[in-house]
Amino acid sequence: MGLNAHEYRATMGYWVAASERGRGICTRALRLLSRHALEDLHVQRVDLVTDPDNFASQRVAEKVGFRREGVLRAHLRHADGRVRDSVMFSLLPGELHD
Ligand SMILES: CC(C)(COP(=O)(O)OP(=O)(O)OC[C@H]1O[C@@H](n2cnc3c(N)ncnc32)[C@H](O)[C@@H]1OP(=O)(O)O)[C@@H](O)C(=O)NCCC(=O)NCCS
Repeated sequence: MGLNAHEYRATMGYWVAASERGRGICTRALRLLSRHALEDLHVQRVDLVTDPDNFASQRVAEKVGFRREGVLRAHLRHADGRVRDSVMFSLLPGELHD
């Protein structure tokens, strides 16, 4: 989790060891950190981006209550050198799913 300079927005990123995937770990972690950001740090927005083809990552975001905002074109250069679009998701106060 990172906070922007004025601390009204938090940005999330996640990665789970391959052997531990599919057990709900990322969903629980994202929910806990998002609650901390909204309720303890009082940010006004939590956001994250995923690759358009990363359906597991998008599913995690949606399970926590994040809403899909749209596609950012040519947004990130990946490790293999390709520049790819990203999908932007955001969560505002009151939108967290328990
Ligand atoms: C994305 C990632 C963090 C998810 O972690 P995880 O602990 O396995 O996630 P969870 O178990 O909490 O939830 C995964 C959900 O995605 C779903 N899912 C998995 N593969 C999927 C696919 N190919 N298409 C659609 N949904 C998929 C699972 O069914 C589950 O949803 P469900 O509970 O409704 O069944 C993990 O796969 C990962 O580390 N991937 C590599 C790094 C990465 O892509 N990070 C995100 C960058 S934006």
